Amino acid sequence: MAEIKPGLVVASSNGRVGITDAVDVLRAGGSALEAVISGIKLVEANPNDHSVGFSGLPNLLGQVELDASVMVGEGLTAGAVGGLHDYQDAVELARMVMEELPHSLIVGDGAKRFASEMGKLPVELLTEDARQIWQARLERDQETGDASQRRFAQKIGALVRRVSQDPEKPAPPHGTVNFIARDREGRLAVGVSTSGWAWKYPGRLGDSPIIGAGNYADDRWGAAACTGRGEMAMRCCTAHSVVTFMRFGMPLSEALTTAMEDLRSLNDPYASEMNIVAVDRDGNHSGASTTAGKTYIFMDESMESYEEPTRMHVPLVDAPSLV
Ligand code: GLY
Repeated sequence: MAEIKPGLVVASSNGRVGITDAVDVLRAGGSALEAVISGIKLVEANPNDHSVGFSGLPNLLGQVELDASVMVGEGLTAGAVGGLHDYQDAVELARMVMEELPHSLIVGDGAKRFASEMGKLPVELLTEDARQIWQARLERDQETGDASQRRFAQKIGALVRRVSQDPEKPAPPHGTVNFIARDREGRLAVGVSTSGWAWKYPGRLGDSPIIGAGNYADDRWGAAACTGRGEMAMRCCTAHSVVTFMRFGMPLSEALTTAMEDLRSLNDPYASEMNIVAVDRDGNHSGASTTAGKTYIFMDESMESYEEPTRMHVPLVDAPSLV
């Protein structure tokens, strides 16, 4: 008989504001899905996180567009919203798509319409702080960015007004939150939410709302979720790959490493960072990143606070040969 483990929540490190609430949901007998939603909603509401939900960094036109998805490992049920304007709780709407509609992904005007039908109230997602970061970075990219940044910014630069500069404020080009929960019965759920690649072309979807790219869960094998440049995870089906590699017998760390190494075959002039968190069917967890020193967080029902281990480092390029 399989060992009974306490309920577990694993998240990207920006999930710190939500992980205790997510574990409390499991402690109270809530489902893995409910735990994931409760953790992510707090990240979406966090005004200091410019990569997710309210206060997310906008697209080229200065509009915040949200993507989110959920997947439940029992029955492989999933829901997602993409390119959502004017509504905050993207991950809850993803759950509603899964539970209320015969569909898995609703985008753009349809997502907005659905949010309104579900009783959500519109919110101004763009904060003044995020607006200033958007303007300053766009300005800087056009003048001093590397070749790929310049190409991207110049291509659409005419669409934006150059109003102010604030080079002191660092701004990541992309960021996302991942939550994976496993309840005491071994049921898995995973959620992902993001405002996407800052300064993205309007309407661009990343990996976060794409089941199999940014998010996958199957109770028989495990669950995985991604942050980083979504176009890379979309082209390699990264989250699904991790779960599939476990299905075919790889231990968790090897499944993660192999999925990361797959990214090396991408021909992508914009290639940047990829990060994965994953949990296997027995509740073992790990993380991997193309950037050295990146962390993730985990907490189970027996712990008073989360721990933050370093992810395995799997660089995007092969280590140079020593011979
Ligand atoms: N991983 C988030 C995005 O690329 O939009």
